Amino acid sequence: MHGNDRLIADLVAVLGEAHVLSDPGLTVGYETDWTGAFTGRAAAVVRPASTGEVAAVLRVCAAHEVPVVPQGGNTGLVGGSVPAGVAVGAVLLSLRRLTSIDPVDAAAGLVSAGAGATLADVQAHARAAGHGIGVDFAARDSATLGGIAATNAGGERVLRHGMTRGQVAGLEAVLADGAVVRRLSGLPKDNVGYDLPSLLVGSEGTLGIITRVQLRLVAPPAARTTALVAMADVAAAVEFVAVLRATVGSLDAVELVFGDGIDLVCAHQGLPAPFPRWAGRMSAARTPHLLLECAGRDDPTDELAAAVEKAAGVSDVAVATTAVDRDRLWTYREGHTAAVNAAGVPVKLDVAVPLARIAAFVDDLRELVRVAAPAARLHLWGHLAEANLHVNVTGLDRDDTLGRAGLAEMILTRAAADGGSIGAEHGVGRAKMAWMGLSRSPAELAALAAVKHALDPVGLLNPGVLIQPYGIGARCR
Ligand code: FAD
Ligand code: MLT
Ligand code: ZN
Repeated sequence: MHGNDRLIADLVAVLGEAHVLSDPGLTVGYETDWTGAFTGRAAAVVRPASTGEVAAVLRVCAAHEVPVVPQGGNTGLVGGSVPAGVAVGAVLLSLRRLTSIDPVDAAAGLVSAGAGATLADVQAHARAAGHGIGVDFAARDSATLGGIAATNAGGERVLRHGMTRGQVAGLEAVLADGAVVRRLSGLPKDNVGYDLPSLLVGSEGTLGIITRVQLRLVAPPAARTTALVAMADVAAAVEFVAVLRATVGSLDAVELVFGDGIDLVCAHQGLPAPFPRWAGRMSAARTPHLLLECAGRDDPTDELAAAVEKAAGVSDVAVATTAVDRDRLWTYREGHTAAVNAAGVPVKLDVAVPLARIAAFVDDLRELVRVAAPAARLHLWGHLAEANLHVNVTGLDRDDTLGRAGLAEMILTRAAADGGSIGAEHGVGRAKMAWMGLSRSPAELAALAAVKHALDPVGLLNPGVLIQPYGIGARCR
């Protein structure tokens, strides 16, 4: 039997034929990332349904010296969820069948779910029991709890609830040797050694396969008000953030979009302009807009309106208090990712720059990209309260001197020069491996590699992500 046939036979022995896919017609749907930038053939796609099956799959892959790429909803934006680059020929381990959700533990304020449960399903489950979840973003219908934990996802509620790491109370994972580590006691006070759940959160599939996640419940607000506010410039928007933090206790989200981004979403989805006086013409392309949301026990509309009335540099304002109208305003914000991808596979970057420097950063970036790639289009938006900017470039010309990698390096170097981060919320994946040294010192990189080598000595898990491949991962293909 050929080596790959033996691998498939051993995987089938563990999972059954229906859940080991090796026909290219069946695997193809798993092999390209959401953006279309990363793709590669898998030796097989496997779909275990339990923690025990995940452990068995890892043992089979280790025995055959074939690396493993974990995948949840495949909405990741840095290429970590597909067998591209050095991981071509890896086994793609889909967690999507691990979907069970436990009843909420109202007294402890916790809910546990399988790694394959989608964020939207867990949100709906919590809502039905009178609770909320502190993580939210546009990919909620596909992104899974395992992927969200593995990437330490950020999103639109970080201002109030923090990143995913702050919402994860515990988890279960299978390590590279098939050992299962489980911390699901739900005890908030439990200082016995290193905190393995914290380490696994944000590890992007390189330290273990997350099989179950326990999230904190948050109190759902009784009332929400959303406003889209056009500001004079980014500096005014940043000043307004300071005022909002100080005076609006119900503040729940501060998101940033620009006029040209709103136009792109309108064109992509066939939406009307958000402000009546825009009707029939395009917006001012570089006008920054804040999407603000307040949430609380009492109607926060007056509190938000009072802050907006006093703010300097506000031009247009649209306010929404009903769920339908709020969703309509959020569409102008959440529609950016799909609208940009529809314009072509972008150079897709996700940086954070200290708020005090972000206005100058935006100006510099526009000029740098204009000079380096005159025909290209720069798309900017993000989560302003967290100083997190999504920088996407489409329409690169073959003659642009830097190319895609050079352009990415220029932008990331500029962010790092301001004391920024090259990977704010999406992670590093395969997309930004080459530039980790811009955000982490040699000593930090050595410590990360030491952790990886200790937990995955044979180099089985997600080679080419975060850490230079070695062992099995270096012998792939
Ligand atoms: P995948 O894409 O399948 O995987 C992501 C990474 O995690 C990969 O490295 C993979 O190997 C690893 N992984 C997946 N599951 C497991 C597991 N069970 N165990 C171990 N490793 C695993 N991200 C944000 O942070 N904020 C946003 O606001 C945001 N908005 C988005 C909007 C859109 C429209 C889209 C398409 C994406 C957005 N993202 C955002 C990115 C993405 O949704 C998140 O990174 C999400 O957490 C990925 O979840 P997933 O289940 O799709 O993971
Ligand atoms: C967003 O906030 O829109 C997301 O992180 C997705 C993206 O950057 O495209
Ligand atoms: Zn984002």
